[in-house]
Amino acid sequence: MALSRMAVNSTRELKQDHVTVRRIRDIAQRCSDKLYAGEEIPLEDIQILSVVIEEFIDAFHHGKEEKAYFPGTEDKSEVYSEEIRKFLIEHEFGRRVARMMQRNLKDWKAGINAREPVARFLKTYAVFITDHTGKEDKFFDMVEEMKSLSAEEDRELVRHYEICRKDVGGSARVEELFRLIGYLEERAWMK
Ligand SMILES: [Fe+2]
Ligand SMILES: [Fe+2]
Repeated sequence: MALSRMAVNSTRELKQDHVTVRRIRDIAQRCSDKLYAGEEIPLEDIQILSVVIEEFIDAFHHGKEEKAYFPGTEDKSEVYSEEIRKFLIEHEFGRRVARMMQRNLKDWKAGINAREPVARFLKTYAVFITDHTGKEDKFFDMVEEMKSLSAEEDRELVRHYEICRKDVGGSARVEELFRLIGYLEERAWMK
C-alpha cells in the first residue's frame, strides 16, 4: 500500500464530494445569471447541467449519504439524528427544484419560452447547495471531532459507497460526469 496516499475515509470522501458539488453550483449560478442577462446559452448545455445535477448530486452523492453515511451515524447521538432528519428534507427540496428546472427546460426545448423559470430554479438550486453543503460540512466536522465512527464502521461505509457507485453506473460513468463538469466550465458563457 502506498503510504503517501491519504487514507480513504467515509467522512472525508463526502467532504471531497462537496468540492465537486460546489463546482456544479457555480455553473448553475453562472448559467442563471447569464439567462437573466438575456445571453444565449445552448439548451444542450443546460441539459448537460441537469444530467450532472441528477446523476452526480442526487443519485451518487445524496445516495451515499442516504443509503450509507446517515444510517451509519444517526443512532450515535440525538443531535445527529435531528440534523440528519433536516438534511433528508433538504435533499427532497433539492430534488423538487431540480425537477421543476428540468420540466421547464423541456418546455423551452419544445418552443415555449421558459428562460425566466429555468433561470429562477437554477438560482434556487445554487442557494440550496451553498446552504446545504455548508451545514453538512459542520456536521461532518462534528462526527470527526467526536470520533463517532470506529475504524471498522468507517471501512464498512467506504465499502457501501462502492455499491452506491455501481448503482449509478460504476466508475466509468462517474468519470464521465467529471468530464462533463469540466466541459461546462470551459464553455464560452462560463467566462
Ligand atoms: Fe446532503
Ligand atoms: Fe452532502
